[in-house]
Amino acid sequence: MDPGRDWWKRAVFYQIYPRSFMDSDGDGVGDLRGIRSRLPYLARLGVDALWISPFFKSPMKDFGYDVADYRDVDPLFGSLDDCRALVADAHRLGLRVLLDLVANHTSDEHPWFVEARSSRDHPRHGWYLWHPIDRRDAFGRPVPPNNWKSLFELRSAWFENAATDELYLGTFTRHQPELDWRNPAVAEEFADVLRFWFALGVDGFRLDVATAYFKDAELRSNPFSWKPLDLFQRHVYDRNRPEVFGALAGLRKVADEAGERVLVGETHGRDPALAAACHGERGEGLHMAFNFEFLFRPWSARAFRDSARAWYAALPEGAWPNFTLSNHDQLRHARRYRKAGFTDARARVAAAMLLTLRGSPFLYYGEELGMEGSFPRRRELRDPLGIATWPLRAYGRDPERAPMQWDSSPNAGFTEGRPWLPLEPGWRGRNVEAQERDRGSVLNFYKALLALRRSRPELALGDLAFVGEDPDVLAYERRGDGGAAGEGRVLVVLNFASKDRRFELPSDASVLLGTHREAGARNRAGRTELRPCEVLLLEGRD
Ligand code: NOJ
Repeated sequence: MDPGRDWWKRAVFYQIYPRSFMDSDGDGVGDLRGIRSRLPYLARLGVDALWISPFFKSPMKDFGYDVADYRDVDPLFGSLDDCRALVADAHRLGLRVLLDLVANHTSDEHPWFVEARSSRDHPRHGWYLWHPIDRRDAFGRPVPPNNWKSLFELRSAWFENAATDELYLGTFTRHQPELDWRNPAVAEEFADVLRFWFALGVDGFRLDVATAYFKDAELRSNPFSWKPLDLFQRHVYDRNRPEVFGALAGLRKVADEAGERVLVGETHGRDPALAAACHGERGEGLHMAFNFEFLFRPWSARAFRDSARAWYAALPEGAWPNFTLSNHDQLRHARRYRKAGFTDARARVAAAMLLTLRGSPFLYYGEELGMEGSFPRRRELRDPLGIATWPLRAYGRDPERAPMQWDSSPNAGFTEGRPWLPLEPGWRGRNVEAQERDRGSVLNFYKALLALRRSRPELALGDLAFVGEDPDVLAYERRGDGGAAGEGRVLVVLNFASKDRRFELPSDASVLLGTHREAGARNRAGRTELRPCEVLLLEGRD
């Protein structure tokens, strides 16, 4: 395992959605033993750290993002002992493990909420957000205090609690009541949850909707926005409040006390400035925060260059960037960028970009195979958001949660039972077993990139300078400045076009890795013809 406080700057992270990765007991849902059995594959692939989406006790109304016990594993996924064994095996194989902390809300079945909703006088009542029912409309429905919306139910985010004659807030589903982070007991409790898992050996956390912990103290209504995806509101009062940065700094302290841990925050929204602010002015905030801009860029060299530049510029000094192209909430990038005859070629270009830009890459399980996601029918849907927005397929999140494709045996080797979600149609040809055998596969290209990244520290830690402003060709140099970044240089040249393009090579250079040229081949300085979707990584020289 890569030692040292800054291991996470060199690391490549790999997200596992546990329901969909590997099932060990035939119930059709992935589990911890399943993940454990596949650790050797992940070590062989060459990633450094795993982020596992929630596997805590949960009624699964949002498939684990509704937690009913933060210190225990849901029996569907296994036990605490399975988790201990998973972490120990991962560490033996040189892999770190991050869990997913859902601290903005709990499940409505969490004993805290059950107690809180029982009476206004219960000491736990103040752990959640409430508003007294002071008015009812002509149909007898309580009038909410503002226009905040439940994202997954597409209605008011305020839900009635008859026992206390109050409304509680649930900005996802009604089954995910929001905690009141202004109450110091809540912050203390989550600090303790972190300590619990750190003591078990966990290396860090991804923090679910980390910028949503605080809401406007006066519960003001959000102003109007033209963006349908934001439910026609600018979310300035129901999330993204500045008070959150103090809470994040508090969690950072707990991580620092445990040593060599990392906290990565999910920002709610697509604002690089907000993500940047989560790091804190003096590095007192999160180690990293997700900037989701890349998930919404069109397929264009210029678009990604502009986005990366803006992200680098937005980050406070000393903060470390990260990049991600797919996760469990968005259509996979192979699908977003699909183009007949070029889908895999684009997947290779995207991989080369993700794994060589300056910033820690976050991969999503199966992207190393070029997985595109499934096409579930109405009756196969499981995601509450997908069900609420059917037939607008763009919103539902089941397609990107299709089971991992291991081999050509029934159900792609994912389960001996009936998979909880349908598989992708092309799994018989697109799976780990088939791609490990095929020299030219997307998987083997990821492996080659990951191996190169490990052998060339400048690819992780070096400076980055963009070369040229071509709309179709994204080129940059990664340069070590001595120290941990080494003294090497790598020139990365990526042709996003499905046509030949020209690139002016600044000096003679030999190929380190490419899609169309053999490693070691020499290239002369001057005009170079790039093939459609060509990836070219060159040994940099003056
Ligand atoms: C963001 C998570 O990524 C998503 O999957 C979840 O539904 C919401 N937060 C609520 O926890």
